[in-house]
Amino acid sequence: MDLSARVAIVTGSGQGIGREIALTLAEHGAGVVISDINATTANEVAAEIVARNGKSMAITADVTVQEEVASLVDQTVSSLGQIDILVNNAGIARDTLLVRMSSTDWDQVLATNLKGAFLCTQAVVRHMIRQRWGRIINIASVVGLIGNSGQANYAAAKAGLIGLTKTTAREVAARGVTANAIAPGFIDTEMTRKLSDNAKQEFLRQVPLGYVGLPKDVADAVAFLASEEARYITGHVLNVDGGMVMT
Ligand SMILES: NC(=O)c1ccc[n+]([C@@H]2O[C@H](COP(=O)([O-])OP(=O)(O)OC[C@H]3O[C@@H](n4cnc5c(N)ncnc54)[C@H](O)[C@@H]3O)[C@@H](O)[C@H]2O)c1
Repeated sequence: MDLSARVAIVTGSGQGIGREIALTLAEHGAGVVISDINATTANEVAAEIVARNGKSMAITADVTVQEEVASLVDQTVSSLGQIDILVNNAGIARDTLLVRMSSTDWDQVLATNLKGAFLCTQAVVRHMIRQRWGRIINIASVVGLIGNSGQANYAAAKAGLIGLTKTTAREVAARGVTANAIAPGFIDTEMTRKLSDNAKQEFLRQVPLGYVGLPKDVADAVAFLASEEARYITGHVLNVDGGMVMT
């Protein structure tokens, strides 16, 4: 998969799955903008890519703030000349049972995981339409397909992200732009390290392959969807979950 002519933005790529997606796209030759709310980690990942002879720059942005998203896209286009691939990966969890969930926890998760993807998609899509080529890849979750107790806000946001993916796919298909979602299952990152041992065992019991996934498993799927080879795939939800959800 040759991405050497491509420029990508990966949101939330200062750590975890986003970091691995950024490293993998860079390995395939893409210029990658490391975007995160955390400037320190974003700079570290960009430096890591450059040290491996890749093309990268860090731009700090909060995906929930429209002006910061506009500036992220403007800076990308003015520094790297184009924007071909957007990976909406930035996400947070604020887990608790529905009856105890504060409206603040609801709003924050919806703002980051769903509105953030909407703002980023809206900001890049006009560039993609103009150049008649683009790839939008949204990192959803199996939880958005099947629900999960303690994650009403997160599951609603991820289900919404799947709806956003399919609608975007329909609206931009005629312009050479595809939009797909990846639904990871249980992946070893900071987000899942916070889970209790019981919760981890419960997840693992549901995974036919019997082990926890790695960020690289998600990143390789992103690289494929970002490639020319995936040209006839749009509006799809690709589960990367060891067989946890079979639809
Ligand atoms: N880890 C899993 O098992 C798993 C499973 C399914 C889906 N996902 C999804 O994958 C994505 C990445 O998850 P992760 O496990 O790597 O999480 P993580 O917490 O390790 O990393 C998330 C990154 O997003 C950044 N971020 C948070 N809020 C932001 C904002 N408003 N603007 C910009 N950046 C922001 C954080 O600073 C961090 O660098 C998320 O969308 C998550 O929902 C993860």
